Amino acid sequence: MANENESCGKILVLDDEKTNIDIIKNAIEGDYNLYYALKPADALMILKRINVDLLLLDILMPEMDGYEFCRNIKNDEALKNIPVIFITGKNDIASVIKGFEAGAVDYITKPFEVPELMARVRTQMELQGTKRQLENTNKALIRLNATKDRLFSIIGHDLRGSVGGIDSLLQFLLDTNDMGADEMRRYIKEMKSYASFAGDLLENLLNWALTQENRLEFNRRSLSLSAIVRQCSQTLGLAAHAKNITVKDSVDEGITIYADGDMIMTVIRNLLSNAIKFTHPGGSVSISASEIEDCVKISVADTGVGIAAEKLKTIFNTGKDNSTGGTAGEKGTGLGLFLCRELIEKHHGEISAESEEGKGSVFIFTLPKQKK
Ligand SMILES: Nc1ncnc2c1ncn2[C@@H]1O[C@H](COP(=O)(O)OP(=O)(O)O)[C@@H](O)[C@H]1O
Ligand SMILES: [Mg+2]
Repeated sequence: MANENESCGKILVLDDEKTNIDIIKNAIEGDYNLYYALKPADALMILKRINVDLLLLDILMPEMDGYEFCRNIKNDEALKNIPVIFITGKNDIASVIKGFEAGAVDYITKPFEVPELMARVRTQMELQGTKRQLENTNKALIRLNATKDRLFSIIGHDLRGSVGGIDSLLQFLLDTNDMGADEMRRYIKEMKSYASFAGDLLENLLNWALTQENRLEFNRRSLSLSAIVRQCSQTLGLAAHAKNITVKDSVDEGITIYADGDMIMTVIRNLLSNAIKFTHPGGSVSISASEIEDCVKISVADTGVGIAAEKLKTIFNTGKDNSTGGTAGEKGTGLGLFLCRELIEKHHGEISAESEEGKGSVFIFTLPKQKK
């Protein structure tokens, strides 16, 4: 029925006479993908299945006249944006006006000159192309604007809070002359926690903004998983030590993943930092991996506070509402798990969580073992 070419626009002709269709077909085919139907019901089926850019419509047909068909299309939410041109033998002014009133964008009377038909079709196809482009740009802008809003709200609230905290503690240290070493250490520790929070947040924010704009470079290679895990546990060792939490790393030396090292580091760092954050002093966190067919399954488990079943359903959604304070009052932004999911899905992997309140949680994700 059609000469399938994805880059070409798609035109549907509805006319009850095959000879009329053939004339249009000869004029148009080659420049556009042409579909045709002899009955309104068939035309409707095509319109619902294929993204048609333009409909060329006859008026006098036995089952339903073109006006009615056009009005039906214009009343259908999914189809109403398809431009309609009538091609008909009815050339009196009342019929032409009725055509425009039914929702057509143009009206061509038979017999027509092929160059005229082509010129009118081309105009509508170009308009339709521009309209689609504008719609896509608009969607992208709405998405980017939401990203910007979220970024500003996080910067304005969380980042300003921690930088402000450091600033006022420094001022206090400067203004106090007779401070003992222990007290000073306590304030320095507090500033360190503000600084770590701001550092982690900046790292996540930047990565998140880049993924939203699809600008994060995706550099996949074969990597040793244990080397990445080791580096993450070293980075978070201090936080674990401060809470007297043991981190057990049982990832086999030989396991390789085909992934972007920086992104996986971000994922593991977030999961480990959550595990430490939501576990009471004296508890433990363990990270392990196993090979399943062409995947590697990585688990980060903790003996922490756990997550309620209801909350578990939305845990990977971004939002301040999702964030709760850690067992030592550590703050958060609810951005970490959302970012983890984006990064794992970019690798065609899956991420999920299982948990029991009061007992602990396990976060599991998969990654490809090798390049496919
Ligand atoms: N290991 C965990 N144990 C218990 N709750 C967790 C765990 N990991 C995440 N959560 C819950 O999910 C929320 C969202 O986590 P995340 O996206 O990393 O944001 P943040 O850590 O900034 O709050 C956390 O605030 C916490 O309520
Ligand atoms: Mg987190």
